[in-house]
Amino acid sequence: MKRLDGKIALITGAARGIGLAFAHAYIREGARVAIADIDIARARSEAASLGDAAIAVEMDVTRQDSIEAAVSTTVAHFGQIDILINNAAIFTAAPIAEITREDYARCFDINVAGTLFTMQAVARHMITRGGGGRIINMASQAGRRGEPLVAVYCASKAAIISLTQSAALNLVQYGINVNAIAPGVVDGEHWDGVDAFFAQYEGKAPGQKKREVGESVPYGRMGRAEDLTGMAVFLASAEAKYILAQTYNVDGGQWMS
Ligand SMILES: NC(=O)c1ccc[n+]([C@@H]2O[C@H](COP(=O)([O-])OP(=O)(O)OC[C@H]3O[C@@H](n4cnc5c(N)ncnc54)[C@H](O)[C@@H]3O)[C@@H](O)[C@H]2O)c1
Repeated sequence: MKRLDGKIALITGAARGIGLAFAHAYIREGARVAIADIDIARARSEAASLGDAAIAVEMDVTRQDSIEAAVSTTVAHFGQIDILINNAAIFTAAPIAEITREDYARCFDINVAGTLFTMQAVARHMITRGGGGRIINMASQAGRRGEPLVAVYCASKAAIISLTQSAALNLVQYGINVNAIAPGVVDGEHWDGVDAFFAQYEGKAPGQKKREVGESVPYGRMGRAEDLTGMAVFLASAEAKYILAQTYNVDGGQWMS
């Protein structure tokens, strides 16, 4: 008996990185997964390599029609959604004096509104269906404290921690547990972009920021997407049924709370 046998998960932003690692881990634990992403070509190719356990779903979390279509497609294919991981997000950074309204709006539209309205659409399905469910939102250590060049992204991730608490308190009556994971620094394409940003603003050589942050992690290195999967499986499993409204740091000891 695997820990997620028979469960259906919708994972946003799952065409690469952490979301893709979650999809693999969930399938290993017996779940079937909708790999939802704005990058549908990549989602299709990843889903194809996972056989019948995965489908690719085109989804732009900034568009309500796209959110609803992704939920409908997943339910039409698999019959239900038991687990949602709100993982899609973008990173953005600039000194306060250079932040633009456009950048702010885009970041909050994807990271915050995307999470809220995907959570709402899936919660409506779970409420109508009965039987509860699990929702996991991707926060960040960036949501725990501000950073001098990362105001907008940090604020968006602080909003995720708050939304997780409110949604959990509202949805517990339907047997839906909402929690969040706060990673630290996880190597991959996301961090390639972060490294390039710091190269531009702090005059660092390419790869230097990654090295520095890796060395500053108490565990001794940057995270890998696979380091996050244990928590994502646990929070979706029967073992976590009494846990809600929490944000768990999975960050090699970076943040203590
Ligand atoms: N990598 C890190 O160091 C780190 C640290 C803390 C938190 N996180 C969070 O973990 C999550 C995953 O991070 P990652 O490193 O795998 O990121 P990533 O950039 O590698 O992947 C993000 C995915 O989201 C998709 N996406 C972007 N906009 C979208 C939209 N509008 N609709 C649907 N999909 C969209 C992208 O196509 C991509 O596949 C994010 O929420 C991120 O903020 C990452």
